[in-house]
Amino acid sequence: MNEEKLLSQIDKNNLPTHIAIIMDGNGRWAETQKKARIYGHMKGIKTTETIVKTARNIGIPILTIFAFSTENWQRPKEEVNFLLELISQNVRRYLPDLMKNKIRFRVMGKIEELPKRLINALENAQKKTEKYDEMILNVAINYGGKWDILNATRNIAKQVRNGRMSIKDIDEKTFSLNLNTSPLPDPDLLIRTGKEKRISNFLLWQLSYTELYFSPKMWPNFSAADFYRAIINFQHRKRRFGRI
Ligand code: IPE
Ligand code: IPE
Ligand code: MG
Repeated sequence: MNEEKLLSQIDKNNLPTHIAIIMDGNGRWAETQKKARIYGHMKGIKTTETIVKTARNIGIPILTIFAFSTENWQRPKEEVNFLLELISQNVRRYLPDLMKNKIRFRVMGKIEELPKRLINALENAQKKTEKYDEMILNVAINYGGKWDILNATRNIAKQVRNGRMSIKDIDEKTFSLNLNTSPLPDPDLLIRTGKEKRISNFLLWQLSYTELYFSPKMWPNFSAADFYRAIINFQHRKRRFGRI
């Protein structure tokens, strides 16, 4: 089915509020082209741009993308440096487009550990787009689900120690408020490309009732049509949240 036809099948009154994506498969895609892994990351950026535009056009309120995990530091230094510099350059390059489309840019993760140049690009993009509300583009960089939970726990422990919170007030709501995603709602749909069926330490707490969609396509090959397919699939599911 072509893109137009797929688009017409999407129920505009039942869109997921928050879609999260694990953009995986850049390296393996490059391998199939007999190219270096970094070539896959460059091609992957193009897909990211397409999907952000597509999500914005159909009216998805929040799009969260996993750009770099706390485990990705274990890759060869050259690849890590290339990736972080690629993100930095593209955030700068893409900022006017974000502003034109009234997209609010937001980051989460251990930002302070990133190269200064990247921190500056991220902070600048957040600041320049903070008033926009057509869509939130939430980028997870140096993010890990376990880190997020530990960080929330430390925040809460500090508040208890300072007497600003009592132990009996620690519930799901207050805990969520201390996670990096706060105040965003949990994702309704998680898309992972690149064949693997795992969470890879992405949003752990927040995915408790998220619908999972796995695409065999490598991220550089993932298209707007594939994105529509994921949403259509989501719209045919019955979410019960433990009820009958
Ligand atoms: C996803 O593609 C990008 C990041 C993890 C930053 P990969 O680089 O993981 O590509 P594969 O999974 O090795 O193919
Ligand atoms: C998950 O992909 C992280 C990002 C997409 C940023 P990985 O490629 O790092 O995950 P694993 O290693 O296959 O689990
Ligand atoms: Mg991978």
